[in-house]
Amino acid sequence: MQIITSPSEMQREAIRWRGKGKKIALVPTMGALHVGHLSLIKRVRASADVVVMSIYVNPTQFGPKEDFSRYPRPRARDLQLARDAGVDCVFAPRELYREDHSTFVEETELSQGRCGPFRPGHFRGVATVVLKLFNLVQPQVAVFGQKDAQQCDVIERMVRDLNVPVKIVRAPLLRDKNGLALSSRNAYLSPEEYQVALELPKALKRAVDRKKLSPKVRRQLAWNELQEKKDLKVEYVEFCPPFLCAAVRVGKTRLIDNVRLGQ
Ligand code: PAF
Repeated sequence: MQIITSPSEMQREAIRWRGKGKKIALVPTMGALHVGHLSLIKRVRASADVVVMSIYVNPTQFGPKEDFSRYPRPRARDLQLARDAGVDCVFAPRELYREDHSTFVEETELSQGRCGPFRPGHFRGVATVVLKLFNLVQPQVAVFGQKDAQQCDVIERMVRDLNVPVKIVRAPLLRDKNGLALSSRNAYLSPEEYQVALELPKALKRAVDRKKLSPKVRRQLAWNELQEKKDLKVEYVEFCPPFLCAAVRVGKTRLIDNVRLGQ
């Protein structure tokens, strides 16, 4: 497995692959890999000649009071997992922004609800770094997890609006054995907090099961249930057809989740 840390070298290599007619798939990550990330690799492995995984904790998508500095960075373990999962190249730049970086990509509609008001500037940071990664890695296809449903929406809209020649693949959200959506941030949870966090998928699952009720009522019921839980702070429960999306805080950890509401 190739490991590239220099952005210019990454771009040169990608252009070389393209010149040889290779199909490049990009799996963008911030590292701290878990089974969810490995499923993203599986999703594109068979259809691509070169699978590139980027590992970069992107500072522009973190707010000043967020967890940028404490975000887990288990680099050696990540590299081993990527190698074992069949990644051809890890792109792990030390820095992607110059000191006087002053250009950003902003999606102005789909980024507004759900996480938008709670994480000002977050989706601008995501859209900017994703476009930079596309320019450096030159993929024909890139895969993102449905766990970050709003991120997928924003990236798909950016690609459409700016005519970016990359096919976006959404990979299904994966859960642990107790139903918690897999996330690198789950590692922050103490055993007690983990038990509290399970209330989020349980409330969403109950909303899925209440098939006879309208999405509006199911949203309200999920909101009410979560509001009643001690040690859990609800940020939002929103129905974005066909998904019921929610974010909560458990201690210092922010968790998001979503389920598809069947009729
Ligand atoms: O989903 C993530 O891990 C990040 O938001 C991404 C897409 C790698 C951009 O930094």
